[in-house]
Amino acid sequence: MSIVPQLPDNAPFSHDQRAWLNGWIAGVLAAQARGGEAASSNPSATPVTILFGTQTGSAEGLSKKLSKELQAKGFAPTVLGMDQYAKADLTNCERLLIITSTYGDGDPPDNALSFWQWLSGEAPSLSKMQFSVLALGDTNYERFCAFGKVVDARLEALGAKRISDRMDCDVDYDAPFAEWVERVCNSLAGAASLQPADGGLKTRDTSDDLKSRSTSKANPYAARLATNQLLTTPTASKETRHFEININGLQYEPGDAIGIVPENDLALVNAILDHGGWSSDDELRHALMHKHDLTNPSKDLIQAIASRAKHDDLTALIDPARSADLRQWLYGRDVLDLLQLLPKGELSSADLTALLKKLQPRLYSIASSLKATPGQVHLTIAQVRYQAHGRARNGVCSTFLADRVQRETPVPVFIQPSHGFKLPTDDTKPVIMVGPGTGVAPFRSFLQERKATGARGKNWLFFGEQSRTQSYFYKDEWATMMTDGHLHRMDTAFSRDQERKIYVQHRMVENGEELYRWLEDGAHFYVCGDASRMAKDVDAALHQVIEQHGGKSADDAKAYVQAMKEARRYARDVY
Ligand SMILES: Cc1cc2nc3c(=O)[nH]c(=O)nc-3n(C[C@H](O)[C@H](O)[C@H](O)COP(=O)(O)OP(=O)(O)OC[C@H]3O[C@@H](n4cnc5c(N)ncnc54)[C@H](O)[C@@H]3O)c2cc1C
Ligand SMILES: NC(=O)c1ccc[n+]([C@@H]2O[C@H](COP(=O)([O-])OP(=O)(O)OC[C@H]3O[C@@H](n4cnc5c(N)ncnc54)[C@H](OP(=O)(O)O)[C@@H]3O)[C@@H](O)[C@H]2O)c1
Ligand SMILES: Cc1cc2nc3c(=O)[nH]c(=O)nc-3n(C[C@H](O)[C@H](O)[C@H](O)COP(=O)(O)O)c2cc1C
Repeated sequence: MSIVPQLPDNAPFSHDQRAWLNGWIAGVLAAQARGGEAASSNPSATPVTILFGTQTGSAEGLSKKLSKELQAKGFAPTVLGMDQYAKADLTNCERLLIITSTYGDGDPPDNALSFWQWLSGEAPSLSKMQFSVLALGDTNYERFCAFGKVVDARLEALGAKRISDRMDCDVDYDAPFAEWVERVCNSLAGAASLQPADGGLKTRDTSDDLKSRSTSKANPYAARLATNQLLTTPTASKETRHFEININGLQYEPGDAIGIVPENDLALVNAILDHGGWSSDDELRHALMHKHDLTNPSKDLIQAIASRAKHDDLTALIDPARSADLRQWLYGRDVLDLLQLLPKGELSSADLTALLKKLQPRLYSIASSLKATPGQVHLTIAQVRYQAHGRARNGVCSTFLADRVQRETPVPVFIQPSHGFKLPTDDTKPVIMVGPGTGVAPFRSFLQERKATGARGKNWLFFGEQSRTQSYFYKDEWATMMTDGHLHRMDTAFSRDQERKIYVQHRMVENGEELYRWLEDGAHFYVCGDASRMAKDVDAALHQVIEQHGGKSADDAKAYVQAMKEARRYARDVY
């Protein structure tokens, strides 16, 4: 007799949700037992493997949507993260669809590292395979969609046949995703003799869908801001704030992020309207407030302005070979700076809006646990404020929350479930958390959760900021947790309290012997915060500690860290 696994009683679902999910698990297992793919009960349906590479969950969400589309068309899709590529048996896979983002400086997202190592190394011929790639990226980065591009090229080099051209998506990916799905489905339908959709096991929402209660970028929930509090002192050189947002019944887990759909700064909108001579156009004012990105000029806008203004220097920068120079020129410049290169009235308002990018939501790591703060999300946000080209500039979302949201202002939010940045399922495992600056946010959530659930594993927090007296966020909370025995070790690095910079990675190395002992005891290692420098330096320090205290060569330390990643004991949430 086989035993069908059930969700544990303490799983964060209502009775109905649990019963329904248990039914779903049983159905999937029954389908698998019949030899079919996980998502279909039709044994003759054509199997398609969907592999996603993701850091913050977008590629995973799109993969699940794609899976539903394919099922509705009678295919039998299986969705897997790239870190589970071995389960996909790619050598024998005949239809592979890849959705992947790019991180770092054109690098794979963390869950794609082992897949890429395999694919770029000694992967066998994939001549039986048909494939297509959807690459997620952001044109603000120099190496746009670089990882999707190399995966696409490598699959072709290994003999796989492209059934539909790669689609590269900017942050506004909904329309290109829909177009790619249509093309891919048509190509697959042409190649396979399809069984009609069979009315068998239907796609049902996964636990992630339940968690986010169907909120999404396109369908946010109108939340309300309850608290907006300075964490830094008023004289500190940086401004970081603690926010509490009432989210009613929305569900999330520690490690998840929240997406906030901001509105632009009315002062900037008015300055643009004034410059263009459009001050009486209320419809345009509304569109500029809510729909358009005013801080990141699009390539089309730059091109249009350069050509109308006959600006030779700017025209020269549009050459793709000069993209680094263009990026440098754009640093600290917004849409108003560009419009100011043209005489007033040179551009119509319709031209302008057609040339602007869409205003994008911003993601924030959740700094609370629902078990400690029911109905709320807490956030730790650094306000972006700087002077450039003779004008004060404000980051759109960080100052929207800090300056422009009143108690009654709706704040559109959605939950972005994390992929892989999660507490260990075995609560006896120790956790080591490295979170300088706003990077401490998810660790406040982790610690609140571990306290609320009575987790037995030990907790070690590394926190760094500029100054102990001006920017020691949540100091009293950490002290209480230390006293209560919920935080077992805490090491701080205040970079500007002495002449020599001291950073979290210096504290890791100083405490290397104990850190290595925790790792040997099965500790999970987490990093959150700055991607560009801190995360790389912390990674190097981790390798150094393992070499030094594990008596390992550089290669063996690398293999040790790789094994931690594969066991999901090394996770990063970096931005
Ligand atoms: C998964 C994830 C989790 C995150 N979690 C957090 C978090 O917990 N807390 C947090 O504070 N942030 C977090 N962020 C970052 C956050 O999403 C936003 O990027 C950040 O708040 C800035 O958004 P903004 O709209 O205020 O600024 P924007 O309007 O987007 O402006 C930022 C841009 O301004 C420009 N800029 C900034 N400073 C200068 C300068 N001195 N000179 C010239 N140009 C400059 C840069 O081009 C920069 O990209 C996270 C990001 C991700 C992806
Ligand atoms: N996209 C955006 O607009 C945006 C907005 C906000 C934040 N961010 C990103 O988020 C990051 C986090 O900002 P934050 O305000 O939370 O804190 P932060 O700038 O990362 O600073 C936190 C602490 O880390 C230190 N630090 C600097 N370089 C480091 C390194 N290589 N290794 C370890 N520690 C280092 C800082 O020291 P010093 O300052 O003394 O060097 C400070 O003490 C920013 O660096 C930025 O990349 C981006
Ligand atoms: C720290 C960081 C680095 C990034 N680096 C790149 C990059 O080099 N090239 C690119 O095209 N996109 C880059 N992106 C954008 C992401 O690929 C894009 O936001 C994508 O939609 C995220 O998808 P995911 O949620 O599935 O990870 C970067 C984003 C972040 C936060």
